[in-house]
Amino acid sequence: METTTEQQQLHTMPRIGDKAPEFKAVTTQGDINYPSDYKGKWSILFSHPADFTPVCTSEFMTFAHLEEKFEKANCSLIGLSIDGIYSHIAWLRTIKDKIEFNGMKNIEVKFPLIEDISMEVAKKYGMIQPGESKTQAVRAVFFVDGEGIVRAIIYYPLSLGRNFDELYRALIAMQTSDAFNVATPADWNPGDDVIVSPAGSCGVAEDRMTSTDDLDCKDWFFCTKKISKEEVLSRILKA
Ligand code: BEZ
Repeated sequence: METTTEQQQLHTMPRIGDKAPEFKAVTTQGDINYPSDYKGKWSILFSHPADFTPVCTSEFMTFAHLEEKFEKANCSLIGLSIDGIYSHIAWLRTIKDKIEFNGMKNIEVKFPLIEDISMEVAKKYGMIQPGESKTQAVRAVFFVDGEGIVRAIIYYPLSLGRNFDELYRALIAMQTSDAFNVATPADWNPGDDVIVSPAGSCGVAEDRMTSTDDLDCKDWFFCTKKISKEEVLSRILKA
C-alpha cells in the first residue's frame, strides 16, 4: 500500500539522540520557542489526549504537585493537547476550583500547556498514533536535555495514566549518567550501585578481575561501583 504525505507526517517522530524538533507555540503561560527557550535546562514535553477527561486531570494534578521537585532537578514541564487555549484555561480553572484527587486539592497548574489545534507540534513529535486515535494525542513523554537533544521517549495509550515516580527516576538516572559517566542498572534509584563502562580491551578486562580498587566486578563485563545518594543528589539537585 502506498504511504501518503499525510500518513508520513503523522508517523514522523524524533528519535533518541536527535535534536528536538523546533516549534513556536501559544501556551497557558504565554508564547514559547521550543527548545531554545529551555537552553541549559532539561525539559519534559508531554502530550495528553484531551482537556476535561479524568485520566488527564489526574495526571495534570500529579505533575503540578511535583513541579517544584522537577524544577529542583533543573527540569521544566510542558504539556500539550490538541485543544484550544480557552479550553485549556477553563480546564485548569476547574481543576483548581473543584477537583480533589489522591489527597491533592486547589492544585494550580503553573507550567505551560500548549494549544495545538492545528496538530502541528503533535505531528512533529509523533503524538498522533492513528491506530489508537486519529483525533487525540496519545500520552507521549519526551525528555530533552539542556542542549536540546532528545534523551528518552516513553509512550502510553489513552487509557493508562503515567507513573510519575518512574518519570522522575528516569530523569535523575540520566542526569547521574551524565554527571558521573556511568550507566544505571535495572530499577536503579539514587544510592544504589552504578555500572561502569565495559572494559574495552583484554588488558582492562584482566585488571578489572584482579584489581582491588573500588569496583565490584561480577565478571569482566559487569562491574559496579558505589556512589552515595548524597553524592548523587548534591551534584544534581539545586540547593
Ligand atoms: C482520560 O483522560 O480519562 C481519557 C482520555 C481519552 C481516552 C480515555 C481516557
